[in-house]
Order: sequence, then C-alpha cells, then structure tokens
Amino acid sequence: MTDAALTDRLRQLQRRVLSLAAPLSDAELRRQYHPDLSPLGWHVGHTIFTEDLWLHPQTLDAAEHALYQPQNSVKAGRGRRLPARAALLDETRERQRANIRLLQSPPETLAGHRLMRDGYLLKFLVQHHAQHIETMRMVLTQRQLALGAAHHRDGGGLERGAAVRRDCARIEAGAYQIGGRDNWSFDNELPRHRRRMKTFSIRRAAVTNAEYLGFIESGGYRNDAHWDADGLRWRRAAACAAPDGWLRGRGGWFEANCDGVRPLAPGAPVRGLSHYEARAFSRYAGARLPCEYEWETACAQNCLDDHGQAWEWCANAFHPYAGFRAFPYDEYSAAWFDGAHYTLRGASAFSEADCRRPSFRNFHTPGKRHIFAGLRLAFD
Ligand code: AVJ
Ligand code: FE
Repeated sequence: MTDAALTDRLRQLQRRVLSLAAPLSDAELRRQYHPDLSPLGWHVGHTIFTEDLWLHPQTLDAAEHALYQPQNSVKAGRGRRLPARAALLDETRERQRANIRLLQSPPETLAGHRLMRDGYLLKFLVQHHAQHIETMRMVLTQRQLALGAAHHRDGGGLERGAAVRRDCARIEAGAYQIGGRDNWSFDNELPRHRRRMKTFSIRRAAVTNAEYLGFIESGGYRNDAHWDADGLRWRRAAACAAPDGWLRGRGGWFEANCDGVRPLAPGAPVRGLSHYEARAFSRYAGARLPCEYEWETACAQNCLDDHGQAWEWCANAFHPYAGFRAFPYDEYSAAWFDGAHYTLRGASAFSEADCRRPSFRNFHTPGKRHIFAGLRLAFD
C-alpha cells in the first residue's frame, strides 16, 4: 500500500471513531459500562492523542499525558476527567484533519523520521485505531446490555443445543514457519522463525453457539469434572452460566451486540467466553485448546473454515519469540509478557480488516469475557 492509500485508510478509521461516539450523550461518553473497559469518550481522546504523540509530541500538554497514556491513568477516573462532549468531538475532528494534512505533505523533519520509513508509522496508527474501534464496539455491546436489552426477545431465538462435531483437518509433524513477513507486523509477531510440531488434528469450524448451548443444557456449568482447579475457582467467583452477551428470552437465546439484540445463529462461532470456559468446553468435548503455533500452521494451510468471526483462545500464555525486540515502544507488547496473559488468534466479527492475518497475536488475561472470544478444538 502506498503512503497515500494508508493515509486514506487512517482517515476512514478516524471518521469511524467519531461516528461510533456521536450517538452517545455526554453522560454516556463518560460512563464506564464494564470494569475492564474505558468510557467510549476516552477512546476518542486516546486515538487522537496517539496520533499527536508520534507526529508532533511537543503539542501535547501534561494533562493529556496524564489522561490518555493508559499507564498514567486509573480506568475508573477517566470518564470524569474527559472534556465536555462537544469539545471532545469538535477538537478531535480538527486535530484529525490537521494530522491528515500533515501526512499528505510531510515536512522534512517528519519525512526523515525513522518510523516513517516504508509507511511503518501509518501502518502502526491504522492498526492501533482499528483495535480501538473493536474495543469501542465492546463498550457499545455492554451499553446495550445496560440499556436492558429487553427488545426483540420474543420469538426466533436459539432453542436447542447440538452435539459436538468432529470434522477435523490433520496436520502432519514437521517444522513450520511462524510469524510476520512484512512491516505490517507488530513486534510480537517477529522474528519469523521455524517451529517443530507434532502431528495434531484441529477442527475446521470454531465451536458454534448450538454446540455451546449443548454444553449448557448438559449441565456443563455445574459439572465440576469439566473444570480444572483455576476454572472452578473462577466459576464460583464469577457465577456465570452462559456466555457474556447471551440473553434468555421467551423464544430461546439471544445475543447483544453493538447495535442491539438478535437471535443467536446456531452455526455461528460462539463468543463471550473466558479462557476458563473455553478450557471447560474443550474437556467436555474430549479435546483441548490448540497452542497458537498449531493455530497459525493450520490457518496457513487453509484448514480453518470460519476464522475471523470470534477470537480464539489458545492454550499457551502470550510470550516473546526468541530474538524478540520491543518496537516502537516497550509497552506495546513487552509489558504483557507476564505469564498472566493468554494468546488469542484470528479476529472477531467486529474486527476491522487491518489486523486480520494468520500471524496476528492478541492477548488478554483468562477471565475476560467481553472481548468477543470463543474457541476451536484440537486433538492429539
Ligand atoms: C492487543 C488489543 C490487547 O487494546 O489493549 C491498543 C492493543 N495497544 N493500544 C489493547 C493496543 C495499544 C491492545 N490489544
Ligand atoms: Fe492504544
């Protein structure tokens, strides 16, 4: 992609950030709908802050650093500290336009910047904003749940669970290429390297809503045999009995998404699961979660039919590849190689196109359920 095409894409994503925020009131833009999610207005401020930070940091003041650098501000205090709705949206629109003008005819000082080489900074900003847009859709989904999400729950919901299917692809033992191949890659996808793997089988389809309902109907949440010790502890504390966003109506099960509530599609990948629930389901199915190398290898061989509808929890913790170098800053990935985060692969139905690739690695702590994640089964 040329710099001009990348700049156009950044412009589209800038507009999407504003159009997701525009329907909300001042109070709604400040509201924290979920303990793990910042207010929607904060994402607006944070995305423009991030552009300015790389393009002309001298224009940012201490108050902006204090609010919009995630490591500087407690989530719970962010809503109160945001500017008023009109100022936030108007100023963001102005600053977005100014940055696009700057990128369309960069002065010598910017053009010579080490991150401007081969469009790296543009690719970084495009992918950064794409990820925040998905997070904004998580906030909007939680807002629908908070609104009561009572509408459209009368008929046509998902009524019956299904047994677990076993249509698998078999991947032979061998050494396979892992990692990114170009400078769309984030630091955590590099360096590209080979990895030895044993023979394994992996389901062609992700676990579906109907299969997951089958687990619920079988008493899966009450059967301790499916849950490991950490999972049991989590289940007792969280007191969950269905995926995040699932709603039971008169006519079966429905799901909330960012624009409202609709019936659960039986064959669509389930989402709204923690790593603990994904593990419990895989035990119930007599299977296991794939490790991320297995996932990437199967994806590269075109064995995964429906990836990209729900993030897929992997068996392993998020970790650096041998030879990892933090880039363009330490906190992007290195801060999260703490053993407390698991890798997720694929993308969700709410992901923008920009981060959809077999080598992309997402990462979250195992209790997170608001991140549009499900699972795929693997077998030895
Ligand atoms: C990789 C999606 C977990 O949203 O916290 C955004 C991406 N990093 N801004 C996140 C990210 C900095 C990150 N995730
Ligand atoms: Fe960010």
